Amino acid sequence: MSDSLQSRLVSQASAPYRPAGPWAWHFARGKLGGDPLFAALLRPGLLPPNGRYLDLGCGQGLLASWLHAAATLHDGPDWPAEQAAPPQVSAYHGLDMQATAIGHARQALAGCPFHVRLEVGDLRDFALPDADVITLFDVLHYLPGNTQENLLQRIRSSLPPDGRLLLRVGDGAAGLPHHLSQVVDRLVVRVQGGTWPRLHCRPATAWLTLLGELGFRVDPLPMAGAGFANVLLRACPI
Ligand SMILES: C[S@@+](CC[C@H](N)C(=O)[O-])C[C@H]1O[C@@H](n2cnc3c(N)ncnc32)[C@H](O)[C@@H]1O
Repeated sequence: MSDSLQSRLVSQASAPYRPAGPWAWHFARGKLGGDPLFAALLRPGLLPPNGRYLDLGCGQGLLASWLHAAATLHDGPDWPAEQAAPPQVSAYHGLDMQATAIGHARQALAGCPFHVRLEVGDLRDFALPDADVITLFDVLHYLPGNTQENLLQRIRSSLPPDGRLLLRVGDGAAGLPHHLSQVVDRLVVRVQGGTWPRLHCRPATAWLTLLGELGFRVDPLPMAGAGFANVLLRACPI
């Protein structure tokens, strides 16, 4: 993706967070502009051309704002010919345990043309609704090991045969970069939610093994300039 398109996408996707206050807006700008995850999501074929999204641990709903921004710019005159058309969202359902983050998401996503549902709740006892794409970005390590396994099992059972789970996990075997990543994740939750979370990590190889055992075919996906030893995985039902 060109720097110019990236910059326009960041402005477009973060602008709706302005009414939610300076923290929400600066956080959106910083994360969307600095995290290679979001550009990676626009790579052709990674996401289906159209789909219902379930974003687990959605924070302030940046995924929905990013995909909406991409669709809006794509409909305008300046979308680069060499850039693939972005995936369309037919519905977005976000869940997070932090009421503040969900409040910011509600404000920012109010103007989306697709159906948006945002809920405060806990992944541990959340009944998974139907979805074509389920995302778990930087979330699983907040759950204890057996709860991670239970959630992934429930996701496997709920996805349609052509559905997909996209997840980003830390590589617990990556040493210092992994520890830096943990510090950032704990700080973000501390600032937004007021508590210090306990984190439960696994090496990347263990995530691949677990997902395979649960009946997923898994593709590790590259993220340009990815720091902090995070790994983006696409897991499809076998
Ligand atoms: C590092 S943030 C990532 C947010 C979002 N996925 C993103 O990429 O912008 C992790 C999120 O997981 C949420 N979370 C952690 N444990 C959770 C649980 N048990 N139920 C619901 N949300 C949870 C936190 O509140 C936080 O918003």
